[in-house]
Amino acid sequence: MPSATYFTIKPMHPTFACEVEGLDLSKPLSDDAFAELRDTLHKYGVVVIRGANFPSDKEHIEFSARFGEVEKSKYRNPHMRSLPYPEIFDISNLDEKNQVVTNSNEKRTTAIRGNALWHADGSFNPRRTYVSCLNAIELPPPNTGGHTEYADARQAYEDLPEETKEKIKDLVGVHSFLHNRKTANPDSPLFKDLNVLDEPLARHKLVPIHEPTGRPVLYATAYTHHIEGMPIDEGQKLIQELIAHATQPKYVFKHHWANNGDVAIWDNTAVLHRATAGGAYEGKYRRDMRRTCVMDSGKDAFGLNNPEDAKGQRNSS
Ligand SMILES: [Fe+2]
Repeated sequence: MPSATYFTIKPMHPTFACEVEGLDLSKPLSDDAFAELRDTLHKYGVVVIRGANFPSDKEHIEFSARFGEVEKSKYRNPHMRSLPYPEIFDISNLDEKNQVVTNSNEKRTTAIRGNALWHADGSFNPRRTYVSCLNAIELPPPNTGGHTEYADARQAYEDLPEETKEKIKDLVGVHSFLHNRKTANPDSPLFKDLNVLDEPLARHKLVPIHEPTGRPVLYATAYTHHIEGMPIDEGQKLIQELIAHATQPKYVFKHHWANNGDVAIWDNTAVLHRATAGGAYEGKYRRDMRRTCVMDSGKDAFGLNNPEDAKGQRNSS
């Protein structure tokens, strides 16, 4: 068992992801305990905190702010509940009337389908997302689905053949929010007539370095539409090959949510993730999940984009 002073670390996968026990987030952490938790996140990429028990959204936000600048939502989907803090993103399956979403609510379900593709939160933005912190307020009954999957994008890069590493080392991925939604909802009239190239695009290195550990990361996500300087089809083929490589079962950790009050934190600059769709709870049981996102402040935070363009950027997704 790896040693830690302020909590117990239980590795959940051979190369990344862990659970920690013994962290009570109903009270503020000391600086030393927080530093140990942040180091643990950088090393493992995903940290599940059992029994974190934030007393309210306020403590969830305050905890997140210790990682950096917490994103505030600029736009709230009118088909979602209104929540009191702009820092809290609604990841529930509830609609504006606080009722379970059904498949007939197209404006609500397109996002759910988009999040079921492998991605890093906010990669479509000029300034990307660093940490996401997801809090389980109300989980559906056990074994009805709703788990979250993560892929180790650092180990996946490390294991690539040398010639692939050489081929992709200086490439730039061009990311698009719309690309993800179109891919996930090919028949939706909401996106059918929109062209990805007419919408905002963000440029990020395909292989950025994860600064805290110095390890290269495969930053190809369901938002990556093409590769700069490559024909679109050829770039998309390469992106799909890299995502397929990085999300092989040997690189994936499946987090089964267990108890209300559990929290998952992940580093979007080190791992990919996806929600799993098609669980038996869908359309039937409430799943109230709330997320904060912390903006990246590292050297690759703005990728190859103009930082000015980040001012009006979309909410993370
Ligand atoms: Fe996400």
